[in-house]
Amino acid sequence: MSDGLQDRLVGLASAPYRPAGPWAWHFARGKLGGDPLFAALLRPGLLPPNGRYLDLGCGQGLLASWLHAAATLHDGPDWPAEQAAPPQVSAYHGLDMQATAIGHARQALAGCPFPVRLEVGDLRDYVLPEADVITLFDVLHYLPATAQAQLLRRIRSRLPADGRLLLRVGDGAAGLPHHLSRIVDSLVVRAQGGGWPRLHCRPLAAWQALLGEVGFHTTPCPMAGAGFANVLLHARPV
Ligand SMILES: C[S@@+](CC[C@H](N)C(=O)[O-])C[C@H]1O[C@@H](n2cnc3c(N)ncnc32)[C@H](O)[C@@H]1O
Repeated sequence: MSDGLQDRLVGLASAPYRPAGPWAWHFARGKLGGDPLFAALLRPGLLPPNGRYLDLGCGQGLLASWLHAAATLHDGPDWPAEQAAPPQVSAYHGLDMQATAIGHARQALAGCPFPVRLEVGDLRDYVLPEADVITLFDVLHYLPATAQAQLLRRIRSRLPADGRLLLRVGDGAAGLPHHLSRIVDSLVVRAQGGGWPRLHCRPLAAWQALLGEVGFHTTPCPMAGAGFANVLLHARPV
C-alpha cells in the first residue's frame, strides 16, 4: 500500500474517535498508523469480498472503522488502480469486556452504513452469533489455556465451511520482542480502565497445533514491517 493511501485511511478511520476524547483519538491514530496488521488486512484474498464480521475482544472497534474508511475511499476518485478493492462489511458485531472501549466504539461507529452491534461481555461465556469472519486480534493470550481451547472449539462449530478466523497471536518463543509486546498489551488494557491482566502465551508452533486440534488449517500471513513476535494467522475450517 502506498504511503499516501495509508495516510488518508488513517485520517479517515481515526476521525470518528475525536468526539470520544483525546485518548480514543490518539490511540486510534497511533494504532491504525503504526500497526502493520491493518494494511495487511487489505491484501487480496485475506478477507472475503463481503461478509458478516464478529470481532472478539474488539477494543474500540478499530477494525470496523478501518474497513469502513477503505470502502469510502474506494467509492471516491482517489483509490489507486493498483490497490485491490477493499473487503465490504455487511454487518459488524464487536464484543469486549471493557465498557470504556465499547463506549468509544459506539460513538465512533455510529455513522457506519452497515449494521453495527457492540456489546460488553466476557467471551469465555458469550454465545457466539453467526458470522462469516471471526477475528481475534491480540486477544487469546488474555484467556487461560483451557479457555483458549474451549473458545476456539466454539468458534470452529459456529463458522460456516467457507468461513474464516483471522487471529493474531504472540509467539511466546520470540524472546524479548514477545515480552515487550505483552507489556504494551497490559499497559493498553490498564490505560482503558481494566486491571493488570494475567497473560497466557504459547510459542507459535503450539498455537498452530492447538488450532489444528480444534479443526482449523492455519497459514501465517506476512505483515510488512512487523517484528517477529506477533503473527497474523489465517485459519480455515478443515
Ligand atoms: C490488545 S487489545 C486488542 C483490541 C483489538 N482487538 C485491536 O486489535 O485493536 C485486547 C482486548 O481483548 C479484550 N479482552 C481480553 N479478555 C477478554 C475477555 N475474556 N472477554 C472479552 N474481551 C476480552 C481486552 O479488553 C482488550 O480490549
